Amino acid sequence: MNVVQYMEHWAARVEAALDELLPAEHAVPTVIHRAMRYSTLGGGKRLRGVLAVSACAAAGGDPERALPVAAALEMIHAYSLIHDDLPCMDDADLRRGKPSCHKAFGEAMAVLAGDALLTHAFWVLARLPQLSGAAAPTVLAIIDEVAAAAGTGGLIGGQVADLEAEGRAQELSGDELRSIHARKTGALFRASVRTGAMLGEASDDVLAALTRYGEELGLAFQITDDILDVVGDTAAMGKRAGQDQERRKATYPALYGLERARAMAADAIDRACAAVAPLGERGQVLAELVRWLGSRNR
Ligand code: IPE
Ligand code: IPE
Ligand code: MG
Ligand code: MG
Ligand code: MG
Repeated sequence: MNVVQYMEHWAARVEAALDELLPAEHAVPTVIHRAMRYSTLGGGKRLRGVLAVSACAAAGGDPERALPVAAALEMIHAYSLIHDDLPCMDDADLRRGKPSCHKAFGEAMAVLAGDALLTHAFWVLARLPQLSGAAAPTVLAIIDEVAAAAGTGGLIGGQVADLEAEGRAQELSGDELRSIHARKTGALFRASVRTGAMLGEASDDVLAALTRYGEELGLAFQITDDILDVVGDTAAMGKRAGQDQERRKATYPALYGLERARAMAADAIDRACAAVAPLGERGQVLAELVRWLGSRNR
């Protein structure tokens, strides 16, 4: 299996887990369940989910057991995109090739669908003993990890800093910009890799290596997202190009220019690969994954 086939295979498995673990569309109140499913299913690369599965395998665990965690992570990611697109945040009308949640369901339902996805994700995690056969201490550690990554020290904190930095890209230091990216995007990637590894009962050394990998991948991923906003194609990405410049977002191309931003993404990818090199054969897929991500167009 090459890396593209590998991604396709596991993305489809994550999709199936999401379909099963999300509330049914006909359950009342139906509108909120339709909105949750609309924004979570049938789109997205499923990177966070596939990374959780892959880290579990890299740690020596059964990747199938990581699917419920993968689904919970993708629910949190989908919530973050719904809220990120709201008029009060990035004000984006197109997401994953279709109208964003608030365009399809209205702002109030979009806010609630985001809230509901975040809540539902933690419900899934609380049921990991039944869903994955995980031991209670492991489940508690996973919930701790995901809550920290999604909270004000992670994703939310990064989104706050992202909004506060609008129009101020030139005033930011490199460290400040890296910290925004590490939190708004990196934290959930880091948690994806770490929670997968925890389910796979990774040793401390392996967990540390995978943690570094997740951090570097997260940085490379958001730099590439910033670059694609400048040079990417709306149809391929399923979201509108050029929005960062319009909103004067603090991005790597805005602070460093395209060429340096590309070099910095490449360096982060190299560091991610170096982090998993000691894992030998088991780290191979992860190295291929992050390299593939560097050349993505969506
Ligand atoms: C988009 O993430 C938001 C960022 C953190 C840059 P993805 O590019 O992973 O979005 P999907 O899930 O594939 O739509
Ligand atoms: C999104 O960053 C980060 C989160 C959703 C937490 P962006 O605002 O750059 O993501 P896109 O470009 O809208 O997907
Ligand atoms: Mg944003
Ligand atoms: Mg956005
Ligand atoms: Mg972006």
